[in-house]
Amino acid sequence: MRDDEPNVPEASVSRRAFLKGGAAATGALSSALLPETAEAQLPVATTPDARRTMVEMRVNGIPYRHEVPNHTTLLEFIRGDLKLTGAKAGCDRLQCGACTVIVNGRNIYSCTALAVEVSGAEVTTIEGLAKDNALHPLQQAFIEHSGYQCGFCTSGQILAAKAFLDRHPTPSEDDVRLAMSGNICRCSAYKRILESVMAASRAMPV
Ligand code: FES
Ligand code: FES
Repeated sequence: MRDDEPNVPEASVSRRAFLKGGAAATGALSSALLPETAEAQLPVATTPDARRTMVEMRVNGIPYRHEVPNHTTLLEFIRGDLKLTGAKAGCDRLQCGACTVIVNGRNIYSCTALAVEVSGAEVTTIEGLAKDNALHPLQQAFIEHSGYQCGFCTSGQILAAKAFLDRHPTPSEDDVRLAMSGNICRCSAYKRILESVMAASRAMPV
């Protein structure tokens, strides 16, 4: 026993043997019951963090090149590596839309896309919408029509609306409701959000 190991009585299965079995993931209990020779043949668990990939993408027109663990989500990359915190982590599982960004013209949930999957793409976050110190018409409309309350969902709402209006510049209210149905607002500011998007559609050049 090493000095830093707790002084516990030896059981019929040693702590070292139990941990060795545990490293083989869920087979811990069964490995403790196996004879030594069988246990030695169990597969060794690999560490996902050991696998990293260089990703390259343009975010808001700026090229980035970062090496990231393969399991890094686009949201983690944007918020953590690039420090662009407008996209929010709400549910982290494809249900709220708070993490919405635009990738190659399409709005996606960045919480469940991997950064490596998006490598080579053109990404727009809320930080990239204002140009030359002028707010985007959607940002302006959300302010003028109070299209937010707490603001947590707002960057996702605006980016989902932008991706939609870029493809459908003269929508009906029902078109907008349907297109925005993947973006949830906990404050239930839906009426004002709809008014904001419709106002922006009238203000944006066709
Ligand atoms: S945080 Fe991505 S969908 Fe909710
Ligand atoms: S404004 Fe609060 S969640 Fe939408």
